[in-house]
Amino acid sequence: MPKPSILFVCLGNICRSPLAEGVLRAVLSAKGMAEGVDIDSAGTGAWHAGSAPDPRSVAIAARNGIDISGQRARKVRPEDFSRFELILGMDHSNVELLRAMAPQDGTDRVHLFLDFAGRGDIEVPDPYFGGANGFDEVYRMIRVASEAVADRLGARLSAPARGQVSSIT
Ligand code: 4NP
Repeated sequence: MPKPSILFVCLGNICRSPLAEGVLRAVLSAKGMAEGVDIDSAGTGAWHAGSAPDPRSVAIAARNGIDISGQRARKVRPEDFSRFELILGMDHSNVELLRAMAPQDGTDRVHLFLDFAGRGDIEVPDPYFGGANGFDEVYRMIRVASEAVADRLGARLSAPARGQVSSIT
């Protein structure tokens, strides 16, 4: 069975997707599953490539016992569409751009994060130009969705014959 692999994507890869990467890794770690899943994050834009996450994301993660300060931003690369079996965008604009960037056989790997997590057609809003409260809300949404994704991954890892993560309902 190939190792499940998930790429979280937002616009800048400094606020939402690095937080999702850190939160899902922490949730999986608490379940003893972190080694079994390949997790990364990227942005559709390259403006912040090489930068650490936004200090507000680092702070809300740290308040919840998660260290994301060592992560560095990067832009989505063409090879991500073959390397990652799931590519989860934070908002509709991320998903649309990802589908436009994907090769023809790569578009079904792309989903809206909260939709894939069973929360419905809901965006994780861009908190960059808002205040600290926005980051609290973003953290809460990401946390709940990450728990749901971890449950799906757990079901898959305990039933390897069932195939790809995206096929589990
Ligand atoms: P992110 O937030 O997509 O969650 O990382 C943003 C970061 C930077 C910008 C916009 C959104 N920006 O315009 O530079």
